[in-house]
This record gives sequence, structure tokens and C-alpha cells, in this order.
Amino acid sequence: MSSSRKLSARAALIAFCTLAGAGGVYAHGDVAPQPMNTDALPDVGDEWLIENPYRDQGEEVWTTAIEIGASGYNQNCARCHGLEVISGGLAPDLRYLEAEEYGDEWFAERFRTGYTQNGTTKMPAFEEVLGQKASWAIRTYIETRPDQDMLDEYADELHKMRDALADGSADVATVKPRLEDIAGKIETLSGAPVADSIAFRAAKQLDGSEDSMKQAAETLTIGLSVAH
Ligand code: HEC
Repeated sequence: MSSSRKLSARAALIAFCTLAGAGGVYAHGDVAPQPMNTDALPDVGDEWLIENPYRDQGEEVWTTAIEIGASGYNQNCARCHGLEVISGGLAPDLRYLEAEEYGDEWFAERFRTGYTQNGTTKMPAFEEVLGQKASWAIRTYIETRPDQDMLDEYADELHKMRDALADGSADVATVKPRLEDIAGKIETLSGAPVADSIAFRAAKQLDGSEDSMKQAAETLTIGLSVAH
């Protein structure tokens, strides 16, 4: 991981924690859209696409899109659509939007124009402020959210792994494959093939070094605290 990627991951994390800690995030209300830095993503041109271009351009682009999309989502969408894209009932649960052309078209339509009912803006339009690259980054983040119920099934085991990774007693040679195994069992609700779960992330981070054990423990800690 390059240092700039590390930094942006950290920035997303801080943004996330700030949000999670602030009591007011679930409130409706007029909050100005927050611009996003999408320089790290491939250009998509001026014409609006009808399908998510960051879904099939390899893992590097995919991961970057998720990172940028996560912070963009948390700043612009979470207050209505819910943290981690788990809706609290104020607006539709976006995790169910199919990760293919039909779902993408509908996503882009709403993103660009928002939604107004009887003269009241229920959802602001984001086309002008955020632009197309941001839209697909957020889309990539949304469609890769894991099914939280599936994740909950492994919460106890993940807690134990977290503790062992944090105090350095974990045997990475057994923990890593087990994390990969769990990651493979956790699905998305959108039909996207890979769920970006905490098990998936932690497994990727583990390279045998002490530092990577700490990172993986941190990933699990944050994910597990969001879940409960
Ligand atoms: C102020 C609240 C609010 C914010 C902020 C908001 N939305 Fe929405 N969104 C809504 C509401 C309400 C609806 C339901 C509109 C309807 O009835 O079709 C909706 C609908 C949608 C839909 C259609 C979902 C479906 O199942 O039909 C998409 C996609 C969507 N929003 C994406 C986003 C994205 C992406 C962001 C952030 C960039 C965002 N929204 C920010 C309130 C909001």
C-alpha cells in the first residue's frame, strides 16, 4: 500500500469515526454536499455512463473506488441512507440495488437529479457538486457492502481473532486462511460477487508482520463496534 493510499484510508477512517461519534448524523436537514477528491480514479469522460466503470477494472481501481466512495458516502449520503448503508428507515436501503446495468441506471438517475415531492426536496441532486467519478465511487462502495446478518454469525469468532491479533498471540498461518474462508461466505445484497467485509479486509492486511497484525486487529475492532 502506498503512503498516499494509507493516508486516504486513514482520512476515511477518521471521517467515519467522527460521523459515528457525532449524535446528529441521522438527522435530516440541509447539509451542503461535501466535495470529494477523485483524482486517484481513472477518468470516465463527460458523457454519463449507464454502468459502473469501476466494477471491472481490476482490484487496484476497485479498492480505490471503495475507499473514496466510503468517505464520500459517509459525508453525503449516510445521514439519510444510514451508516454502513444500513438504512434506519428514513430513506431506501441502497444495499439491495442490483449491481448491474438496471441498478446502475437507476442509481445514476437519482444521484444526478435527487428527488423532489410536492415541492419538497427529499433528496438533493449531486451531479453538479460531486460529478460522475464520485458517483461511481460511491456506487462501488454501496454495492460491495456485506450482508450484516451474515457477518453477525461470525462476530464471536472474529472477536476472538481480533483479541489474539491485538495481543500478538495469533498464529497468522491459521488465522489468515480462516478469515479468507469467512470472507468467502459473506455475501452482498446487491449480487456483486465480492463483499468488502471486515474479514475480507483483515485477511488482505495480514502479511505475517507484527504491524499487519495490529492493522488487522484495528480493522476488526472498528467493524465489530459498528455492528454492535
Ligand atoms: C436528505 C436525505 C437524503 C440524502 C442526503 C441522500 N438521499 Fe438518496 N434518497 C432519499 C430519499 C427520501 C429517497 C427515496 C426517494 C423515492 O421515494 O424515490 C432516496 C432515494 C435514493 C435512491 C433510489 C433508491 C431506490 O431504491 O429506489 C438512490 C440510488 C439514492 N437515494 C442514492 C443516494 C446517494 C448516492 C446519496 C449521497 C450521494 C444520497 N442518496 C443522499 C434521501 C436522501
